[in-house]
Amino acid sequence: MSRRVQTPTSLCCLVFFLTFSILSTASLASLKVGFYSSTCPSAEAIVRNTVNKAVMRNPGIAAGLIRMHFHDCFVRGCDASVLLDSTPNNPSEKENIANAGSLRGFEVIDEAKAKLEAICPQTVSCADILTFAARDSALKAGNINYIVPSGRRDGRVSLKDEPSQHLPPPFLNAAQLQQNFARKGLSLDEMVTLSGAHSIGVSHCPAFTTRLYTFNSTHPQDPLLDPVFARELKRKCPPPSNAGAAATNPSVPLDVLTPNRLDNKYYVNLMNHRGLLGSDQALMSSSSTARIVTTNARLGATWANKFGAAMVHMGSLDVLTGTQGEIRRNCRVAN
Ligand code: HEM
Ligand SMILES: *[C@@H]1O[C@H](CO)[C@@H](O)[C@H](O)[C@H]1NC(C)=O
Repeated sequence: MSRRVQTPTSLCCLVFFLTFSILSTASLASLKVGFYSSTCPSAEAIVRNTVNKAVMRNPGIAAGLIRMHFHDCFVRGCDASVLLDSTPNNPSEKENIANAGSLRGFEVIDEAKAKLEAICPQTVSCADILTFAARDSALKAGNINYIVPSGRRDGRVSLKDEPSQHLPPPFLNAAQLQQNFARKGLSLDEMVTLSGAHSIGVSHCPAFTTRLYTFNSTHPQDPLLDPVFARELKRKCPPPSNAGAAATNPSVPLDVLTPNRLDNKYYVNLMNHRGLLGSDQALMSSSSTARIVTTNARLGATWANKFGAAMVHMGSLDVLTGTQGEIRRNCRVAN
């Protein structure tokens, strides 16, 4: 027919298809609470039981799993890339200095995955298992309860060099930490709030020994470190040149007050110059972060709520959904 009729029709169809494709992309791309409720109804319960048993045996596992989720989400998004083992021609994220010798809890993920493969083969992604495991760790270690959406899919790539391009090293100052988290779309408040994860678990000595022995040319010891605390730390962490001690690879609690309790005591430590990492104590050196530290130290329940919400946000970073990626059979190897 005439162009007069066709133009509005095609315009209408174009608008319709654009709207439809935007909506369908959005729905495919979004995670949802209870994603496995029909395909594998016991998925979340199985992960929870596995985590609870592991944390009962070793409370440090809760810290390990929360940190592992962070290290997954900041590198290629929450796609379980952190779980992939190296292959002969490809060293994986596990070999990066940020992960090697310090990430822990892999066997807990393996155990949950094995149980899930037995009842619902190739259904529950490793990325979701890790997300659930971090959530269950927060519940077990801190009685922090949050609902987390699922539907993540697993990536196929893990590269040794990538963690150092995304994860913050422990000597950053407050502005650098803010920038590092902002690159992932996380706010200043979320950055300070998530740092509260350092109220559980440990750090190995090399992450902070410069603060004890080689701070700068005029101050061998970081003046921001409480001297009594520094003396204790020096006993546990001899100078790096001491080869004998290095072989034992000692570690110390990140939170001296309540080392296995995920709570707001971390912020109290910072106010008392007892933050272990330079990046922890740095939160007191900028007025905007110091204000958040003080608030989090004062209002434990508010911090806990913010922590849960920030974990959900972090757990949604650059996720693969729909038909992207795959559902790994073994969390350590791509299918
Ligand atoms: C703000 C920037 C951050 C820096 C610079 C940082 C750095 C570090 C370092 C150096 C360690 C010690 C690793 C070792 O030597 O064993 C550590 C441990 C830990 N980090 Fe962070 N981290 C940051 C943020 C986070 C976030 C956002 C989370 C989770 C939400 C987190 C959770 C943990 C946990 C739970 C541990 C203890 C791990 C264990 O005991 O196995 N960290 N972090
Ligand atoms: C060493 O650090 C202290 C405390 O931050 C500072 O006052 C001093 O200027 C620094 N010295 C040098 C040489 O950078």
